[in-house]
Amino acid sequence: MSNNTKLFQDYLQSIVQKEEPAGLYQPISYLLQLGGKRIRPLLTLMAVDIFNGKPEGGLPAALAVELFHNFTLMHDDIMDEAPLRRGQPTVHEKWDLNTGILSGDAMLIQAYQSLEAYPDLLFGRLTRLLSRTAIEVCEGQQYDVDFETQTQVSQEAYLEMIRLKTAVLVGCALKMGAVIGGAAEEDAQAIYDFGVLLGTAFQIQDDYLDAFGDPKIFGKQVGGDILENKKTILYHQAMIQGSVEDQRILTEWFSKKTTASVSEEKIKIVKLLFDSSGATEATKALVVQYTEAAFEKLETIQIDTQSKVHLKVFGQNLMERKF
Ligand code: IPE
Ligand code: IPE
Ligand code: MG
Ligand code: MG
Ligand code: MG
Repeated sequence: MSNNTKLFQDYLQSIVQKEEPAGLYQPISYLLQLGGKRIRPLLTLMAVDIFNGKPEGGLPAALAVELFHNFTLMHDDIMDEAPLRRGQPTVHEKWDLNTGILSGDAMLIQAYQSLEAYPDLLFGRLTRLLSRTAIEVCEGQQYDVDFETQTQVSQEAYLEMIRLKTAVLVGCALKMGAVIGGAAEEDAQAIYDFGVLLGTAFQIQDDYLDAFGDPKIFGKQVGGDILENKKTILYHQAMIQGSVEDQRILTEWFSKKTTASVSEEKIKIVKLLFDSSGATEATKALVVQYTEAAFEKLETIQIDTQSKVHLKVFGQNLMERKF
């Protein structure tokens, strides 16, 4: 465990206490304590470090970002009808729908409360950044749902959707750290842009793993996106590269709600088509392409070489992750 990971884990532990009413707070501690990679808070702390601030000063912002992320997961799992999260039952499965809604809402509020640790001026800057990001995440989530029932989704529209639902939060995590560390506006913006590119690669990889991850380590239901008719990059590439017959089969499967009796069959057939059409390879290539674009952006930022190496290693690891 890196120093920053430990720093964050200890801080998280100290604030996750049992509180009443248990029906509100237990699901929150449950989800937070299931773990997760903690990539966003780590990026916040790294960015504080890089711009010469003390990592400790970044803890409330790192926590805000992680709370916000976990709030989106709790509600996303309801929207995606997901049974598993981090290898365990999702909150709305373990408790119920209302619990998932209200505990999620509370986590969003706690995210903002965490920022109250900062002096007013900084609180204002961080809050504005989080609010802009948060509304974009909502926009992305709505597009994601809209696309489930649209047959034609362009690659451009998909990329904009994942920029909104996932990538901007990665950018926000880094920019918060930069702002706290006292970075120049130009550099704070550049590290945000780096984060958005890395976050885009991250979501493409997430889409790849959703279909091709190992069920024993992935922690989420493998094939969940296929069952929900998600128009991910795999689907999109298969529609571009597949034969007319492939396109017909895919369109057919993705235009109706999946019933339990055909779900295994659907996942099997669709994955075969992703592979045979070349979509799987094209998706992996896009992960590399966006990660490299992120690294190019990194070169334009006025930070020392050692910091660039750290961020690059982080990006490399994300690309090779299995969950
Ligand atoms: C999952 O995020 C949601 C996406 C944006 C793909 P993570 O893969 O970072 O989830 P945890 O926090 O590590 O569980
Ligand atoms: C993640 O999209 C976006 C948000 C949670 C905002 P997904 O729906 O792909 O995330 P997972 O795969 O459930 O983690
Ligand atoms: Mg989901
Ligand atoms: Mg989703
Ligand atoms: Mg996913």
